Amino acid sequence: MNSVQNKADPVLVVGAGVFGLGCALELANRGYSNVTVFDRLAPPVPDGSSCDISRIVRSDYSDPFYAALAKEALQAWRSGPFQSFYHNSGFVLTSESMPDAFLEKLNGVLQGQNIPFEKFNSTAELQSMFPCLDTINANFGGYLNPNAGWADAAGAVSLLATLCTEKGVSIVTGPRGTVKSLRITKAGIEGVNVANGPPVMGSNVILATGAWTNGLIDLTYAMSSSGQPVGFIQLTPEEARTISQMPTLINMTTGFFVFPPTPGTNILKVACHSNGFETTMRVQSTDQTISAPKRDANNAVSSFIPDSADAALRHGLRQVLPEFAERPWMRRRLCWYTDTPEGNFVIDRHPSIKGLFIAAGGAGHPGSIYC
Ligand SMILES: Cc1cc2nc3c(=O)[nH]c(=O)nc-3n(C[C@H](O)[C@H](O)[C@H](O)COP(=O)(O)OP(=O)(O)OC[C@H]3O[C@@H](n4cnc5c(N)ncnc54)[C@H](O)[C@@H]3O)c2cc1C
Ligand SMILES: *[C@@H]1O[C@H](CO)[C@@H](O)[C@H](O)[C@H]1NC(C)=O
Ligand SMILES: *[C@@H]1O[C@H](CO)[C@@H](O)[C@H](O)[C@H]1NC(C)=O
Ligand SMILES: *[C@@H]1O[C@H](CO)[C@@H](O)[C@H](O)[C@H]1NC(C)=O
Repeated sequence: MNSVQNKADPVLVVGAGVFGLGCALELANRGYSNVTVFDRLAPPVPDGSSCDISRIVRSDYSDPFYAALAKEALQAWRSGPFQSFYHNSGFVLTSESMPDAFLEKLNGVLQGQNIPFEKFNSTAELQSMFPCLDTINANFGGYLNPNAGWADAAGAVSLLATLCTEKGVSIVTGPRGTVKSLRITKAGIEGVNVANGPPVMGSNVILATGAWTNGLIDLTYAMSSSGQPVGFIQLTPEEARTISQMPTLINMTTGFFVFPPTPGTNILKVACHSNGFETTMRVQSTDQTISAPKRDANNAVSSFIPDSADAALRHGLRQVLPEFAERPWMRRRLCWYTDTPEGNFVIDRHPSIKGLFIAAGGAGHPGSIYC
């Protein structure tokens, strides 16, 4: 934020997901004394992309820049205030065709990071590392990255919000926190219009609005949002214990992924990384149609996911954990990805609107399994 003249000048951060809160905390740590975060809902925001019970944490991305960033992030998860939210379950990536060029590439990245990994050529070899996966009946190879796992995303975001407020950041939610539009003049941005009450003025605005970004500013050609299906199954404590030592696992062929059951609640979470589903809405100012989730409702209340997405989640479960594949869902949701065509983050000053900064995108991750 080199454009901020004075560290006492107001900085408005729109979005209390991991991007917005992370940015606000960093600004406060660097001495910015008038930082306010706005969100529709109080963090952890239930339909934000940053929340729910888990997110994979790993450093094996094929793009070297993101791999280095992820390695740093992994170190931060493993020490410091967030370590109780991190679970080092190990991360397994599978493929039916060994050797697999993409896996080889990721293995090269891990070698470069000095992170030991273990390849397996058959399901039997995987099962010898993880005996609890004894019911898998398909055959595949892959590798285990033992220095990876998952994080309690909602728990970590709650702590992030607390740390922000302890550092003097204000968090405004509800109608005063719901940004209806940006106040842009020829000279640059001068503040935001909110759903209730007078506008909030400030000539430094950071948009960290995730999948909703398209609704506030025309980035139609740079970023698009897609709904990714997620399902949750309630296990009994005994059932959860039988698979408590399983790794976080992704099927690279289908994009299906599964986490170990959450300690304490025994909830099993599965998801599918795919092209996703779009929700289109009209932008009033430009009359364009864009893909973005609803702003004036909580997108997580409805348990709707398309039938084909439901079937994909069940199919993935039948392959990895057939014993739980026919269980009823306790909850389902579409979680929102925002991505550029290359999968990159968009973290930069707006090219023509002075004072406006954007921090969004990258949900599907460059160098992940499809990019
Ligand atoms: C299904 C799924 C699985 C994923 N899995 C992983 C994973 O395993 N590992 C990993 O590292 N990453 C994963 N990701 C990606 C990661 O979760 C996202 O990249 C990250 O959470 C994005 O954070 P954000 O702050 O940009 O977005 P969000 O958390 O969505 O934050 C945006 C916030 O802006 C608010 N907002 C929007 N518009 C307005 C407005 N007009 N006024 C006020 N507030 C507004 C919203 O309410 C929201 O809280 C996954 C994402 C999804 C969807
Ligand atoms: C932050 O900036 C706003 C707008 O200029 C101002 O009204 C408010 O008093 C400032 N707050 C602090 C703590 O400086
Ligand atoms: C897997 O197969 C490759 C080549 O086919 C071999 O070099 C490697 O040692 C095997 N790995 C294991 C763990 O058996
Ligand atoms: C991944 O999906 C493919 C295609 O459905 C299947 O052949 C393979 O066995 C699956 N692997 C795992 C680990 O489930």
